[in-house]
Amino acid sequence: MELNKIYQGDCLELMKEIPDKSVDLVIIDPPYQINQGKSGGAFGRDKRDFHNQIESLTNGIPNEVLRELVRVMKKINIYIWCSKDQLRQFINFFEDLGAKTDLLAWHKTNPVPTCNNKYLSDTEYLLFFREKGVKVHGTYKTKKKYYVTPTNKEDKKLYTHPTIKPLDITENLIINSSEEKNVILDCFIGSGTTAVAALNTGRFFIGMEKEQEYVDIANERINSLKGE
Ligand SMILES: C[S@@+](CC[C@H](N)C(=O)[O-])C[C@H]1O[C@@H](n2cnc3c(N)ncnc32)[C@H](O)[C@@H]1O
Repeated sequence: MELNKIYQGDCLELMKEIPDKSVDLVIIDPPYQINQGKSGGAFGRDKRDFHNQIESLTNGIPNEVLRELVRVMKKINIYIWCSKDQLRQFINFFEDLGAKTDLLAWHKTNPVPTCNNKYLSDTEYLLFFREKGVKVHGTYKTKKKYYVTPTNKEDKKLYTHPTIKPLDITENLIINSSEEKNVILDCFIGSGTTAVAALNTGRFFIGMEKEQEYVDIANERINSLKGE
């Protein structure tokens, strides 16, 4: 599989092309599981209507995807953005394989105002799993477990992805958990944040995305880095 390229399709199929133990770091922001009891339904479907697009962002991912990620990683070294409802699934899966867990968080200072009977949606969870022997580089400044920043509404609008993640946080994760020229995989790459962060920090990336629309947006972002 070529490096520094975004592949369009279902990541479970595409990942079969990646050799065993060839990836240094995985950063993923998969579909969040929002409604408890509903999972896996839209995974891999091709329908492009609005309802399905929303569903494909809220149906979670099966362990089959995690197993494939473990196969391609040299050692378990993976960050996963997730909802509260997915914490148990991911922690159980990786701890059963002997990995250590860290729970990081992004606290958004400009959450959508809600006045219903619930807390604000102002926290995004970021799980980090690594197996014995995997180093966390970085410094006092880069190693804090929480980020407090606003949602970048400009990037959200510019790259039209509803769940775009901050570039500076992604770069920080890469600096802490990889070295220059390492290979970073993001198989749910959306608008390409991980690709841009990898290039900005001198790493290679492999990107995968189901929706052609986002593949195009990610490629535009990457090309604009190269001044094309
Ligand atoms: C939460 S978004 C990622 C956003 C990204 N972090 C960013 O900053 O733009 C998840 C992405 O995964 C894609 N996706 C969902 N299921 C997929 C699958 N089976 N294979 C590949 N991509 C998939 C969705 O289309 C969506 O763009």
